[in-house]
Amino acid sequence: MEPLTLTLSSAHVSAPATPNAQIAVLDTGGQYTHLIARKVRELGVFADVLPSDTPAGVLSARRGIIISGGPASVYEAGSPDIDPGILAANVPVLGICYGHQLIAHHLGGNVEKGDRGEYGVARLELTAPDPLWQGVCSSQVWMNHRDSVSAAPQGFEVIGSTETSGIAAMSNVRRGIFGIQFHPEVVHTHEGVNILRNFVFEICHATKDWNVSRRVPLVEQQIQRIAGGRNVFFFVSGGVDSTVAYTLCLRALGPERVYGVYVDTGLMRKGETELVRGIFASLGATHFEVEYAQDEFMAALAGKTDPEEKRLAIGEQFVKVQERLLQGRQFLDGSWILGQGTIYPDTIESAGTAKADLIKTHHNRVAGIQALIDTNRIVEPLTQFYKDEVREIGAELGIAPRFLNRHPFPGPGLAIRCLCSATCQAVMLCADGYLIPVRTVGVQGDSRSYRQVLALDEPVDELAIRKLAPSLTNRRSDINRVVSICGSNAVPSLWKVHKASLTPARLDLLRDADQLVRDYCAAIGFEQKVWQFPIVLAPIGSTDAPESVILRPIHSVDGMTADVVAMPATELRYLVHKLLGLPGISAVFYDLTSKPPGTIEWE
Ligand code: XMP
Repeated sequence: MEPLTLTLSSAHVSAPATPNAQIAVLDTGGQYTHLIARKVRELGVFADVLPSDTPAGVLSARRGIIISGGPASVYEAGSPDIDPGILAANVPVLGICYGHQLIAHHLGGNVEKGDRGEYGVARLELTAPDPLWQGVCSSQVWMNHRDSVSAAPQGFEVIGSTETSGIAAMSNVRRGIFGIQFHPEVVHTHEGVNILRNFVFEICHATKDWNVSRRVPLVEQQIQRIAGGRNVFFFVSGGVDSTVAYTLCLRALGPERVYGVYVDTGLMRKGETELVRGIFASLGATHFEVEYAQDEFMAALAGKTDPEEKRLAIGEQFVKVQERLLQGRQFLDGSWILGQGTIYPDTIESAGTAKADLIKTHHNRVAGIQALIDTNRIVEPLTQFYKDEVREIGAELGIAPRFLNRHPFPGPGLAIRCLCSATCQAVMLCADGYLIPVRTVGVQGDSRSYRQVLALDEPVDELAIRKLAPSLTNRRSDINRVVSICGSNAVPSLWKVHKASLTPARLDLLRDADQLVRDYCAAIGFEQKVWQFPIVLAPIGSTDAPESVILRPIHSVDGMTADVVAMPATELRYLVHKLLGLPGISAVFYDLTSKPPGTIEWE
């Protein structure tokens, strides 16, 4: 298909009205590669993403090169590499994470294999002045790595370190080569933007040539080009992404050419269907309807306990419903294409770029949808944007803040917040706490992990979130999450992980817990303090009360990294008391895990 892109990837360099990129981001498969390019563009300098092994000759006219992070190890056969010529040319180079290690590896330094790694928060001490540090002070950085540089190449100075990484930053100013182990592109690195600004302007001497206000007209033009004479059939969810994507199409093509259907999967929160009807009425949608498909989705999910299998079943069921609707209404006659609100993180975490690892299969990228993409019958106006940019675009389009500021909600709905288990296993007491043999998805060192959960008898406070939880996930390779036990109706020695699948009764219980938390958080103003607040139901508990509720309030900007938000103790106590009053609930947990090492959703 013709890519809907602002010339952001190597394969797509022909969109109109975009300047020649001054900064090239070489992609070694990192989860944040595209985010680096976005952050540089936000500084007003156009940047694009190219394959890591792009020849030095192709890059000679660039003002600067950034080598991204990635999931591989520099010593592994076939791991992503760069043309070493870029390190001998006159163009400044900044290596981030794996890029930092590649520089050390190529120039005679040493990279050591780590078996544990460093994930999430760390404190960077600046150990020497450097052009990269202009106006920057020692501060919080975000780490996501296993290997580390143990010896800098000759001619390099160590300019920064953290408790775990002695060589967290190094440079050879004369040669214009810089390496940093942490991620300046993520919001949780406090001085990240300043560090990138120093590289782009002070070191590369790039000039401003890009303004974000050019996004909307460019996207609308491209929707018109991709649609041609065809109309767009849209499956909407009521969430920010599909609402903004739909509105862009509505503006680009007019209401008569855009058709919207909301599929009620039975996996949505309480009251959602009526709310969505209201949103689309307010947008001026003339062709909008609701398709009730609860029974089909329950049948497709029956007996499935594995998270990836659940996601695939939901994705395929979406495609089936979609195909039925398309066929039933003659939407396959060539005059219609499918619209979707896929945003950038949905594609990157489904291994959507050349070298990235699969973290989760997002439902927008399952085989059926891929077939539509391959046959040129899809328009996805937001694939190059992150959630916060989507909200900005929505505001530019005049969509009401109460719709734009809704917390993100995943496409597969409550199904991925209702944990299942194929077996019954005991919870084990260990030296650090209670090891719960329920498995959840994590993202560690740019790779997917699927590990157990450690429950602690600790209060939800800064110490537990900032120190205890990261030290445990860094140290233990059998877990990727740490939770606090906030309250329980049964002593932990009686807890088991029970055999459980997705049933209407469990979904109803989760819906009740979710509604209870949402109402309370709206009432106490906690809703605005978090970016997202998943409520998870897990089959952990005693025989009489076999379920537990997990609270997962996080702060994020783009969904790529996340920090835990602590609820005030008094309010939390009240909420836990209410949740323990729901039928069948044994315990309430509070997730203390940042992303990485955990993902936001548990599955
Ligand atoms: P994770 O759990 O991967 O979530 O850290 C990042 C953000 O993406 C949302 N999410 C999804 N959204 N389809 C979606 O449309 C999906 O399959 C999906 N899985 C996760 C999640 O809620 C968070 O905002």
